[in-house]
This record gives sequence, structure tokens and C-alpha cells, in this order.
Amino acid sequence: MNYQPDPERYERMTYRRCGKSGLKLPAISLGLWHNFGGVDVFENYREILRTAFDRGITHFDLANNYGPPPGSAEENFGQLIKKDFGGYRDELIISSKAGYLMWPGPYGEWGSKKSLFASIDQSLKRMQLDYVDIFYSHRPDPDTPLEETMGALDLIVRQGKALYVGISNYKAEEAERAIAILKDLGTPCLIHQPKYSMLERWVEGGLLDVLERNGVGCIPFSPLAQGMLTDKYLKGIPTDSRAARASGYLQEGQITPEVIQKIKKLNEIASERGQTLAQMALSWLLKDPRVTSVLIGASRVSQLEDSLKCLENTEFSEVELASIEGILW
Ligand SMILES: NC(=O)c1ccc[n+]([C@@H]2O[C@H](COP(=O)([O-])OP(=O)(O)OC[C@H]3O[C@@H](n4cnc5c(N)ncnc54)[C@H](OP(=O)(O)O)[C@@H]3O)[C@@H](O)[C@H]2O)c1
Repeated sequence: MNYQPDPERYERMTYRRCGKSGLKLPAISLGLWHNFGGVDVFENYREILRTAFDRGITHFDLANNYGPPPGSAEENFGQLIKKDFGGYRDELIISSKAGYLMWPGPYGEWGSKKSLFASIDQSLKRMQLDYVDIFYSHRPDPDTPLEETMGALDLIVRQGKALYVGISNYKAEEAERAIAILKDLGTPCLIHQPKYSMLERWVEGGLLDVLERNGVGCIPFSPLAQGMLTDKYLKGIPTDSRAARASGYLQEGQITPEVIQKIKKLNEIASERGQTLAQMALSWLLKDPRVTSVLIGASRVSQLEDSLKCLENTEFSEVELASIEGILW
């Protein structure tokens, strides 16, 4: 049956301005790193995408290498854009990235102009799109001048292949330099995509201040620490979880007794707040106005629905915050 999006899809979502740009992003965005590749089930990821759009999620995040196999998430997404979302391109913010290993040889990764130009063309072809909304340098390249990487991003925008540019995994100082170069070139940096969650807080040591000072948005990735900030690992490792799957990036070894201890205590605070742990972990990030959107993953519709409920309570009392700090430190 033809997909008809929910006519009330914009009523329950909150949209937050991305830094000082004109672009608003949904408080929750959906990433296609896992669960949308060639190894995954079409009907399942189609349902996840439809539900997301029905619930006001307008932003979908990809990268050249998402799969597995690499590239297959973009291909699958491209097919679904055609089948389900063809008439809605102007309601979507689609991002892609280049920087991690994608094809053999010296141009298949990192941040040279050669690599970025080849990669965006490949991504557009796989997704059957004329342009992406946001194109990222996926990681800083220690061997390529930052001016070259940022210059390539600027040119990609001038050629109409992307509307905005972003950086990901850049530390505070690198980010500040990249933002300054982009500003001089006349293509402001829209957004930074760092790993940030209750269990991974490096951005609080300077990056968030750099972004705020420069009017750049922030979209934390892996806000649930790949599923660890949910109640799923409290009683062992479920066979259908990311930690158990061969194609999953989360290693069993990361789920240590210390982590489980923290999760148990956090889970209790979440219950007292009337939230699941997943909801509290997302709300905790969204309490900071410097965070534009949180970039979640989901392996099934029920997880997406659970996570979306975080929007019902993003306020924390001083006592709750202090208890959480006590657990995290
Ligand atoms: N820029 C970068 O370098 C970079 C790196 C990584 C990710 N990202 C982006 O960030 C996105 C999100 O990353 P992520 O998938 O690691 O995010 P995440 O939200 O931390 O983890 C998502 C996983 O957690 C589990 N989960 C999600 N919601 C749940 C819920 N309500 N209850 C129980 N379990 C739940 C599912 O795993 P199960 O399979 O166990 O069900 C799901 O696949 C990616 O898709 C990608 O777009 C970017």
C-alpha cells in the first residue's frame, strides 16, 4: 500500500535552531549507521523510517560507509526515498559524510579534496539525490591541511551538491580552526557531530563552549552509548542486541561490571522520573540548549517509540542532576 504520512506529524515534535543558522532540526534525529544495510530486513527498516517521519523526525543521517556492506545504507535509503518519500524531499534534511575507509587506495578515506569530491558524487548516486542537506568531514585528517579539507567542503556547497557543511569527531581546538577557515571561505560551519552521552562526556571539556561561541549547532551521536544506556544489558546480553550481532560495532567487552553498576543506578533514577533509562539518557542531553538534536539509532519501531517519549520530560531537578553526577563520576 502507498505510504501516506501522518498529517499531524509536525505537532508532537520539537524543532530547535541549529546554532545561529536558519535551519531548524528535530530534537530527535535518526541515524542509519546500523540496521539499514544489506544485511538487514527491508520491511523492518522501512517501518522504522515511516514511523520516524510520521512522528516529525525530518533529519536522517548517513555516511558513505554505513552498511554493511559499506554503501548499502545509502542505497537502501535512496530506494525508500523513491518509494515512500519521493514527494517529501523538501521536508527532509539528509546528511552524509566522508572520511572513514570506503574504497581501496590512497583516496578512499581521510580528508583530501580528491577523496571528498569522489565520495560525495558516489553518495549522491547511491541515494539517487541531486544534493544532500548537510555534508560532513567525518573525521579530522592529521596529514591533510585543514584548509584543503574545509576548502573542499566549501566548493561542494558552491557546486550545489550540499546546502550546509559540518564536521564530526573534531576536538575543540581543531573544530575552532575549521570553523574559522569555513567562515573566511563564506560557508559557515552549520554543525558538529561528536560522540556524547552520559557515559562519554569529552565534549564538556571545551568543545561545547567553542560551538556556542561560534554559533555552531551540536548533534551528539550514540546518545544511548549504542544501547548500553537502556535496560537491555542489565540481565546479560540478549541475542538480538547490537553487542551480540556479528555486524554490531558494540563489543561485549565494553559492557563491564562497572558500566552495569552505573546503568543499574541510573535506571533507578529514570524510574523515579517516570521514564525508561533510554528516555532519561536522551532528556539529559536535551536539557542543554547547546545541543540542537540527539542522533539516535533504532533496530525496531518499538525502540524509536520509546525513545521519542523523552520529549515529554526534558527538565531535571537539582537533586536529580546531583544524583546523576554522583553515579557518573
Ligand atoms: N559521526 C560519527 O563518527 C558517528 C559514529 C557513530 C554513529 N554516528 C551516527 O549516530 C547514529 C546513532 O548512533 P547509534 O546507533 O550508536 O546510537 P544509539 O542511540 O546510542 O544506539 C542505538 C542502539 O541502541 C539500541 N536502542 C535504541 N533505542 C533503544 C531503546 N529505546 N531501548 C532499548 N534499546 C535501544 C538499539 O540497539 P540493538 O541493536 O541492541 O537493539 C539501537 O540500534 C548513527 O546511526 C549514525 O548516524 C555517527
